[in-house]
Amino acid sequence: MAGNADVIEEFRANGGQVGGWLTGAPLVLLTTAGRRTGRPHTTPAVYLRDGDRYLVFASNAGGPEHPSWYRNILASPQVTMEVAGADGTVRILATLAVPLEGAERDKYWEQQCAIDPAFRAYEEQTGRVIPVVALIPLELSATERRRAVGEQLLRHHADLRAQLERVRDGLGGTADLGEQLRTRCLTYCYGLQLHHTREDGAFTALEAQFPELAPVVERLRAEHRVVERGLAELEALLQPGRSRDAAEVRAEVERVVTGLEEHFAYEEEHLLPALRG
Ligand SMILES: [Fe+2]
Ligand SMILES: [Fe+2]
Repeated sequence: MAGNADVIEEFRANGGQVGGWLTGAPLVLLTTAGRRTGRPHTTPAVYLRDGDRYLVFASNAGGPEHPSWYRNILASPQVTMEVAGADGTVRILATLAVPLEGAERDKYWEQQCAIDPAFRAYEEQTGRVIPVVALIPLELSATERRRAVGEQLLRHHADLRAQLERVRDGLGGTADLGEQLRTRCLTYCYGLQLHHTREDGAFTALEAQFPELAPVVERLRAEHRVVERGLAELEALLQPGRSRDAAEVRAEVERVVTGLEEHFAYEEEHLLPALRG
């Protein structure tokens, strides 16, 4: 059986289609924010369509505990959802997650078990009442959505810049990398990853609306990948028990910070005028 990471990769590479044991299963990818770390957590889920809503089931394949994505949405109900679009590409939607209750939950649960008996088997295996969650795409007019994206971008950048300053301060002249700095760095990385996942989604819509922005968006996407690699290296360097010297860490942080400051500035300069209309 393919692991989640393989399924996610295949889904994204093939316009939302996956083969193997999941062939034909209606799948979405959910990205939630980790309730303790804030770290983005992506997981495939089978869905049932109900009008505009996408219903997903916290079956955890019959496991005794609720899956972590479900516990995450109880803490923070904003979910980024990826779904196969009609044109063979993956659409990325901002959604609000609402767990269904009582008779409504039961109705859709029974419907899902009738469609896919594996869910009945999960129910029999676990002692839990398996939650059913509605993902509601956030409906805004194109103009409202654009403005909201622009405002959100500025807010997130302000927040990320403030955190960067704290990370930098924490580096000081000390030879030792304290646990506090490590935590601060990693919290920052996860927040930034989430920000970029959401931006990548917004970019697709933006490109469709403003074809002249295509080269800008192309560059921003490429920068996101560079940043992602830089963060992964930094994260590896910060693992407890790993031997490192303070100068190496400082140099790595400075490299990432400088790249990010340029990225934020370029993004604001080129995207905000279009977003603000
Ligand atoms: Fe960005
Ligand atoms: Fe950004």
